[in-house]
Amino acid sequence: MDLSDGRAALRAIADGGPPPGWSRAAVRAAIDTHPVTRRRDATPDAALGTWDTPWHEADALAAALATAQPAVASWGDPCCGVGRLLVAAWDVWGAAEPERRLQTLCAGDIDADAAAVARDALACAVVASLTRAGADAARIARAALARLDEAVVAREAVDTLAAMPRAAAVVTNPPFVSTRRLHRTRGAAHVHALRAEHPECRGAFDLGVPIVARALDATEGGWLGLVAPAAWQTVDYAAPLRARLDGRPWVAVTTDRRPFGAAVDVVVVASGPAGGTPFAWTPDVAMPGCVPMGDLADVWAGTPGFEARITADALVEGTAQGDIDGWPFVTSARVGGWALRDRAVRFMGTTWRHPVLPRAAVASEARRLRYDRAAWLVPGVASALRAAWCPRPTALGVGVLAVAPHDELHALVGATLNAPGTTAVYRRMHPGAALSNGYVRLSVGLLSSVPVPDPTRADVQAALPTLREQVQRATAGDEAAATEATALIERLRAG
Ligand SMILES: C[S@@+](CC[C@H](N)C(=O)[O-])C[C@H]1O[C@@H](n2cnc3c(N)ncnc32)[C@H](O)[C@@H]1O
Repeated sequence: MDLSDGRAALRAIADGGPPPGWSRAAVRAAIDTHPVTRRRDATPDAALGTWDTPWHEADALAAALATAQPAVASWGDPCCGVGRLLVAAWDVWGAAEPERRLQTLCAGDIDADAAAVARDALACAVVASLTRAGADAARIARAALARLDEAVVAREAVDTLAAMPRAAAVVTNPPFVSTRRLHRTRGAAHVHALRAEHPECRGAFDLGVPIVARALDATEGGWLGLVAPAAWQTVDYAAPLRARLDGRPWVAVTTDRRPFGAAVDVVVVASGPAGGTPFAWTPDVAMPGCVPMGDLADVWAGTPGFEARITADALVEGTAQGDIDGWPFVTSARVGGWALRDRAVRFMGTTWRHPVLPRAAVASEARRLRYDRAAWLVPGVASALRAAWCPRPTALGVGVLAVAPHDELHALVGATLNAPGTTAVYRRMHPGAALSNGYVRLSVGLLSSVPVPDPTRADVQAALPTLREQVQRATAGDEAAATEATALIERLRAG
């Protein structure tokens, strides 16, 4: 399917025809591969802050919206880009009450091309949510055809928000564009006008400030789901917004470090109506069709505490060719996305180019056996649970975890660990363990509980050869293979 097929499909359904049976995953793939999305991804416009929201963040917000929102009079995203947040919200929330949600939708983006994609994307999402022909499906299709053009338009965010009643549900990832850049790209008069019109714009504010301020107005009696720079938790210019948020119940849904190459770390926040009851929302991370990683693989920690000192004293400098009888010593500094990086690392006060732990220096037989196995290495402290395949026997440094599953499951476990959604799932499962200066904390026990697609499932078995091939290419630095592998894992995980 193609995004441009949405309207024709809606018309056919409105005439009594059967829905084409599109999957949600197909709609999302069509958004991701649309030329406008590709153009925005390839050359993000810093002046417009066009960093589209990753699906796992969009889904996290949508899940919070689905369980926490009150009956709202209007909903939408005033900076909808190509529509990822709108589609995620539709999938888990809109589709449950389609006619009402279509009637009350109000969205827009200043980028007319992106708004047009979002409109088509939503048309396709509506089609995908219709499973069989009938009067209901025909009515919903007619409502979509009647509403989408006026509901998702090219316009300024503050104008979209002004058109929403005060009991709205807003999901948004607004542009975070500095005053300096606004000066350069839109002129001093624009910055001056923002300051004059929005009292919250103070100091070196960014463009997100007036938009979120007006979103707080629009959702005073409703619900706000916001992707914001993590720095907003402390910077002075965001103080007026923090003060307003403090008067409302709110919860941090997840945090991410520089997702999708964005320039900042983000925090995803959900906030209920002013004066409303505190959030009792807990993320649903039950994943039917998945099994805990600990059922498939051994997960262990690297060299903890006092052992690190002993290990450091035993290390010797080797070469890239591995000329010493021992194990290359790996710390998280050498673990890249999919492969080990050949680079100098600092360990216990010494910088090493190719640290090697000589076989003779390891007294315990159990440890020797462990080091003799090929391993998946996982940085102990990371923004994503990044794995790296190490085909050689390896010794592990501080802050490194290793997973050594049965051979045929290497690809499955490795690709699962590398999928961005895994970080979101891990954080949602273990919110108390998730943060240390914005980094994820890992532990053997917690990591063992991460859901992995169940390899006894027929579709997982059928996908394993492809996945293994993609993982092998990805470990050789093939970015396209890495992208394909993570997309395949997300599909398998979604069942
Ligand atoms: C961070 S992106 C988020 C896109 C989309 N919501 C998503 O989740 O993928 C910010 C969006 O704000 C749009 N934008 C920038 N300035 C705007 C303005 N003044 N009014 C409305 N939209 C604006 C950009 O075109 C961009 O699509």
